[in-house]
Amino acid sequence: APGAQQFIPPQADTIDELRAAATGCRGCELYRDASQTVFGRGDESARVVLVGEQPGDMEDQKGLPFVGPAGRLLRKAVDDAGIDPQHIYLTNAVKHFRFELRGKRRIHQTPDRVHITACRPWLVAEFSRLRPDLVVVLGATAAKALLGPAFRVTRQRGELLPWPASAQRPEDFAGVPVDSAGKVADAPAAQLLATIHPSAVLRADDRDAAYAGLVQDLTVGARALA
Ligand code: URA
Ligand code: SF4
Repeated sequence: APGAQQFIPPQADTIDELRAAATGCRGCELYRDASQTVFGRGDESARVVLVGEQPGDMEDQKGLPFVGPAGRLLRKAVDDAGIDPQHIYLTNAVKHFRFELRGKRRIHQTPDRVHITACRPWLVAEFSRLRPDLVVVLGATAAKALLGPAFRVTRQRGELLPWPASAQRPEDFAGVPVDSAGKVADAPAAQLLATIHPSAVLRADDRDAAYAGLVQDLTVGARALA
């Protein structure tokens, strides 16, 4: 797969310019079946950037990230954690909806490593323009994009981590540029916090407990910003 890099105009200084360029991305095959590219949105001077997995069915139709039930839950959790939901930027590791058709229904499919790697240049471009103080990784797909496949959200959720992360093993960052010090080369310095994806809260047997856990993790981030 060619990847997104060739579709990113180097002179694109703003998020709007990146978003416009991303409409024409063909960096992996996901553009073919999805309706449109769903780029990040929100406060471009936000100190906090939250990274989800990929747009869902509703996001694919509207062209905006986190406009469905998971997004509603996420904004409430952000608010409950003491972060102003007006002052965040929301994006996804993969910017096209991956699904499988079952009859007329479009069933969400988790993106593969090839999609995450192909789409990563857009995420990196967003970070380089936004320069957030805190990056919140929502679930395993975003963690793969930003921390490598060896990272386990269940083990390290709610922990404030320095980012760019150091690669323990170079293969952890397959497809990700790592500098001579073993750090992700193209990421501005920030703190990072991983937590569960809001969709996991919606699917949990004990939704209240899962929601409280999400808020608790986000509260760690809120304190780091204070
Ligand atoms: N889930 C995501 O990860 N991103 C969205 O934009 C919507 C649902
Ligand atoms: Fe480009 Fe990402 Fe869409 Fe693939 S998923 S076509 S890399 S924007």
